[in-house]
Amino acid sequence: MNKVLAIANQKGGVGKTTTAVNLAASLAATKRKVLLIDLDPQGNATTAAGIKENKPNTLYNLFFENIQIMECIYKSSDDYDLLPGGQELIALEVGIRENNKQSFLSKELEALKDKYDYTIIDTPPTLNQLTIEALFAASGTLIPLQCEYYSLEGVTGLMETIQSLSDKNLSNNRVIGIVRTMVDMRNNLAKEVSDELESHFSNLVFNTLIPRNIKLAEAPSHGISGVKYMPSSYGAKAYLALAGELIRKVEYV
Ligand SMILES: Nc1ncnc2c1ncn2[C@@H]1O[C@H](COP(=O)(O)OP(=O)(O)O)[C@@H](O)[C@H]1O
Ligand SMILES: [Mg+2]
Repeated sequence: MNKVLAIANQKGGVGKTTTAVNLAASLAATKRKVLLIDLDPQGNATTAAGIKENKPNTLYNLFFENIQIMECIYKSSDDYDLLPGGQELIALEVGIRENNKQSFLSKELEALKDKYDYTIIDTPPTLNQLTIEALFAASGTLIPLQCEYYSLEGVTGLMETIQSLSDKNLSNNRVIGIVRTMVDMRNNLAKEVSDELESHFSNLVFNTLIPRNIKLAEAPSHGISGVKYMPSSYGAKAYLALAGELIRKVEYV
């Protein structure tokens, strides 16, 4: 089945990587076969996945050295597989543009059609060619969002980009939902923005709220997901619930 899902928002620090890693871990916990792709030159998802190799192959090697995609896939310390990212993805971004290789990632992922149930793509905090590659390859996008003023800025632009790619038949990507992250309901502003999101986007907002939880922030330094690091924490439980909600949205249609 391999549902390819992009995690995107051109704003940094909104919980994209935390969502990508913990969603991958939560889906893997339900025995689904999951691949996490780190498409961010910062490589935060790669660190969080705790792989052993110190110079793993990335999409850069796949693009420039003609190796097989399976040679870029590693076991994480959780139960999902990882296709790592890192600094060399900056050169990959330029390479894809200069060689007119748009949709390179979509083509490569065809080889994995029967291998995974879910492929989750973590994207950089910009709308550059790497993010566009993820939007092309994905059949759905999740948008993590912090409930603050201005948090919606950019999100409408991202939604329009996804819509225009699909209008031009360049992709069949659609926005699956907005995930409210780092929520602190004692904060009145957060509650206001959260309520506003629900009334404005209603069925596009996931019911599950991801709370601000220190265990989620600590886990990456141990090279493991929050879900595995402290399964009883509020953060872990929220991501497991989010995975359940996602499964109901994409598998029972
Ligand atoms: N629910 C949460 N509770 C506490 N800290 C969080 C939570 N989500 C993310 N963080 C922390 O906030 C920072 C930014 O999150 P990150 O997932 O890296 O965002 P992005 O990938 O969008 O830049 C990181 O230090 C991360 O550990
Ligand atoms: Mg990130």
